[in-house]
Amino acid sequence: MRICVIGSGYVGLVTGSCLTGMGHSVTLVDRDGDKIARLKSGETPIYEPGLADLVGKARGAGLIEYTTNLNEGVKNAGMIFITVDTPCNKDGSANLSRVLQVAEEIGKNIDDFKTIVLKSTVPVGTTRLVNECLQKQRRSQNFELLTNPEFLREGNAVYDFLHPERVIIGTERSSYTKTLTNIYKHICERIIITNWENAELIKYSANAFLAAKISFINEIACVCEEVGADITKVAEGIGYDSRIGPHFLKAGLGYGGSCLPKDVSAMIATGQKAGCEMRLLRSVAQVNSDQRRKFVKKLSKLLPEQTGLAIGVWGLSFKPGTDDIRESSALEVIAQLKELGCLIKVYDPAAMPNFKLLHPDLHYCNDLYEAARESEALLILTDWQEFVNADLNKVGSLMKSKVIIDGRNIYEPDLMKKFAFKYYSIGRQKIDK
Ligand code: UDX
Repeated sequence: MRICVIGSGYVGLVTGSCLTGMGHSVTLVDRDGDKIARLKSGETPIYEPGLADLVGKARGAGLIEYTTNLNEGVKNAGMIFITVDTPCNKDGSANLSRVLQVAEEIGKNIDDFKTIVLKSTVPVGTTRLVNECLQKQRRSQNFELLTNPEFLREGNAVYDFLHPERVIIGTERSSYTKTLTNIYKHICERIIITNWENAELIKYSANAFLAAKISFINEIACVCEEVGADITKVAEGIGYDSRIGPHFLKAGLGYGGSCLPKDVSAMIATGQKAGCEMRLLRSVAQVNSDQRRKFVKKLSKLLPEQTGLAIGVWGLSFKPGTDDIRESSALEVIAQLKELGCLIKVYDPAAMPNFKLLHPDLHYCNDLYEAARESEALLILTDWQEFVNADLNKVGSLMKSKVIIDGRNIYEPDLMKKFAFKYYSIGRQKIDK
């Protein structure tokens, strides 16, 4: 069966490519002609491990086509995935204009039976709206509409698509899900068939819960600093309880990226619209932004006069393994350092070109040692393996004063003592001054 994927962003590209890896023929549609031209020329516009390989193989086997013509993509396909973006509105809610526009266009173009799968992250109630939109435009009632949220992590998206822990399918009629379950049954044993509203809420609740875990551990980290405890040990101890689990309990500068912050905001907006106060999730978001302010305060406590101070910064991406800086803690931390008048030298293995577009006035370094050279303090904002493996003797010998403030807890405090660093991290020691 030919599958049409509408929206060649992160989710669409990964979904389309993985489907070709499973032997399906895919037409990838995007209204952005430049993007389609780049894809046609063999370029993979995003970096994601395994993706370029899949795309190359699909091209070789003639399993993938690219077009800006939605009509053409829809006409030839038995199944249509909607994977367009739902950016954040000013009030925190998700912007559905693209999803609804695409639904309208699909509705105008279906003339035989189609399975339509909504994969964009959409607030509860959207699938029903999409259904209305399709019904209005339909030439026949020949479609089944399913909602099928994705849980792809950046940096692991191909793996996550091909090895899902669960697949969620929302439907009005469970008899309608056969075509989609036939695709997933080869890669997942746990396929949950439920209604549209449940499926939509599962996606947002999952990300909101992950964000809550992070803010929770960051709040406990704050207590640890005051009472002489170590958050890494506390997290390990609670993580062995299978009701809690060990994941997403790493204290640090908080969550960033294109999903968690946006989905927490959208979940708050959805809840409030439904008349629920959403006190917990509002606090989750607040704890997250406080975490970045508190981090810069550590620097002010340690080095009271910051104007003209040379500060080295390691890490700009929102997490390791990506060049994505969306909602990265580095954006807030660097903005504050600028306000303090620091001279900022930065290094990141992948994200410097993206960061430069927003902050061209920083000193961008060729390697991590150049960022440390002559610095009065070194700030670690992303937990790249390259930083974990750094030659600490060399780092220490290059710095003007051996102060490290680690926002990701990548080193053991005892080890740093041996290297004679003044080492401060998150939830492991108090700054007394
Ligand atoms: C997330 C979800 O994990 C994924 O299921 C969803 O579909 C998309 O959003 P992603 O944005 O790629 O994926 O990043 P993730 O690996 O979840 O990390 C998010 C942020 O939380 C990063 O900034 C990371 O540094 C931070 N984090 C994560 C912590 O601070 N502590 C942790 O213990 C885990």
